[in-house]
Amino acid sequence: MSEPVIVVTRRWPEGVEQELRRRFPSVRLNRRDEPLGPEGLRRALEEADVVLPTVSDQLPAELFRGGIRTRFLGNFGVGYNHIDVAAAAEAGVVVTNTPGVLTDATADTAMTLLLMAARRAGEGERELRAGRWTGWRPTHMMGAEVTGKTLGILGMGRIGAAVARRARFGFGMPVVFYDAQEHLPDHGVGEAKRLDTIEEVLAAADFVSLHMPGGDANYHLIDAARLSCMKPTAILVNTARGDVLDQQALITALQEGVIAGAALDVYEGEPAVPEELVALENVVLLPHLGSATLAARTAMGMLVLENLQAFLDGEEPPCRVA
Ligand code: DGY
Repeated sequence: MSEPVIVVTRRWPEGVEQELRRRFPSVRLNRRDEPLGPEGLRRALEEADVVLPTVSDQLPAELFRGGIRTRFLGNFGVGYNHIDVAAAAEAGVVVTNTPGVLTDATADTAMTLLLMAARRAGEGERELRAGRWTGWRPTHMMGAEVTGKTLGILGMGRIGAAVARRARFGFGMPVVFYDAQEHLPDHGVGEAKRLDTIEEVLAAADFVSLHMPGGDANYHLIDAARLSCMKPTAILVNTARGDVLDQQALITALQEGVIAGAALDVYEGEPAVPEELVALENVVLLPHLGSATLAARTAMGMLVLENLQAFLDGEEPPCRVA
């Protein structure tokens, strides 16, 4: 491919855009940073050899049908449930992602959420900013202790393991976990206890953190029945994908005190967030900031470039998923 037509669907960190422009002077960047939407994405697939999308671009099967020009889809992000990879592969498109480089940033976000929910940090900040704080008192906004409490991890992959290490070694938290995969790489938390079922983890934990991939296989894995397995004092953290959790069931569970609280970075149908959720005090809500550090986002972009360069050189891209 002499000079590939490349479309980048959103703004990337400046340093990575510069590197893209240096290597591919005719690259089409999205200066306005507005989502392309289904029509814009279809046009990109028809006109470009390479499309570099991200989590906010929905790429369902129909966008790949009926003849497209694109041969390489380099996703800026590790999760790729927004791309129908089977349809992409059928259309002859190579798909890659960016694992590893955002592990620490995302694990830090999970811990931030866990601590915020436990210590009612969002509630406290809202009270202060609204001018409703009347001063220190012994019974003011008491939260839950974190140190020494049990953490349940669902999905002991890279990010789940990084959260487990932070909790175990930073906060002395015993860790229990469930993962559907039989063979797992070393998670680095020697005494973390693997349990046989999701229900056992939910029942044992004071805090539960979700780290499984999104998409059909895990759709609404945590539903009303599973939420009811949790302790009424427990807090649920989700930095994985919105669709692994039945959002309506969570709202009911929070309203009815089935669990004490939740802390979310991801949503079903984001960026929409239901009013009922926003109205609740016992939930912390972040706008999908999991990997949002300059270092992580730069590394993600550079890894997309590494995948792309390998593809253009006729080699196997290091992070190929389809
Ligand atoms: C990912 O990489 O999948 C993240 O959700 C984006 O921050």
